[in-house]
Amino acid sequence: MNYRHGFHAGNHADVLKHSVLALCVRSMQRKPKPLVAIDAFGGAGRYDLLMDDRAIRTGEWRNGVSRVWEAAKPLESLGPYLDLLRAMNTGDELRFYPGSPLILQRLLGPEDKLLAVELHPEEAAELERELGRDKRVRVYAESAWTALKSFLPPTPRRGLVLIDPPFEQPGEFDRMIAAAQDGLRRWRNGVFVLWHPIKDLAACERYRRRLTSAADDQPLLSADLFIKDADAGGLVGSGLMIVNPPYGLAEAMADLGAWLAAQLDQGGGRWRQEWLVPPG
Ligand SMILES: C[S@@+](CC[C@H](N)C(=O)[O-])C[C@H]1O[C@@H](n2cnc3c(N)ncnc32)[C@H](O)[C@@H]1O
Repeated sequence: MNYRHGFHAGNHADVLKHSVLALCVRSMQRKPKPLVAIDAFGGAGRYDLLMDDRAIRTGEWRNGVSRVWEAAKPLESLGPYLDLLRAMNTGDELRFYPGSPLILQRLLGPEDKLLAVELHPEEAAELERELGRDKRVRVYAESAWTALKSFLPPTPRRGLVLIDPPFEQPGEFDRMIAAAQDGLRRWRNGVFVLWHPIKDLAACERYRRRLTSAADDQPLLSADLFIKDADAGGLVGSGLMIVNPPYGLAEAMADLGAWLAAQLDQGGGRWRQEWLVPPG
């Protein structure tokens, strides 16, 4: 396991994933009922963009969250995400960046629950420290692929699962499809948020087709944020597939995506959003 999220924290892919995650939670909270959030690939929870060697070495966040932080007129729907960034930082300096479990912890209500899974022992220990003593939260240092089987369906039955594996080993698309298929069999109304990098366009297209059939007629929304031309090579963007998106999320995401594509553009910025299975 070589992957450490500190190299990539706050990059364009994190901005996409985290801003949509925040919107998704806020959309679900329109109904005042408890919910559970499962963060299957938690990471360390908090990243120091200015002092951590990893972030300094890659500087990926400078073309990601930094551009959102510096934006003269941020979009209103970025509110929940930006509020978190402001709460973690002082003044105008952007130094700390929250990982997905911290974002979820801060957005959840007193009756909600967070289950965070992280396989890397050091990252899991950091995450545990970061989330602190919170009766609503539990960290599991184990593999998400098996943990999901034991967690689903959760109690309460309302909630979401975030699945964003590191994509450092072959077969990650296959594992995501299998996890979504198995997850939906166990929990048909769960909201599944699946993230993927866009590098190999043909592999992404195959994944779209296969996930569409795995969704088994449950609503499936697809959104891709390209920051470079599709044929530029390397990581040209990233995408989200959302099974059972909450009401109103698709509309909010369309505005957000167009704004992000312009803001994070590195030559070919583009947003593509479509229903692969429309709501019935
Ligand atoms: C892309 S990062 C997660 C980032 C985090 N979700 C966020 O948005 O802030 C993927 C994480 O998954 C962890 N990981 C790798 N394989 C895993 C597995 N089988 N089960 C759980 N975690 C795993 C890695 O150590 C890494 O911290």
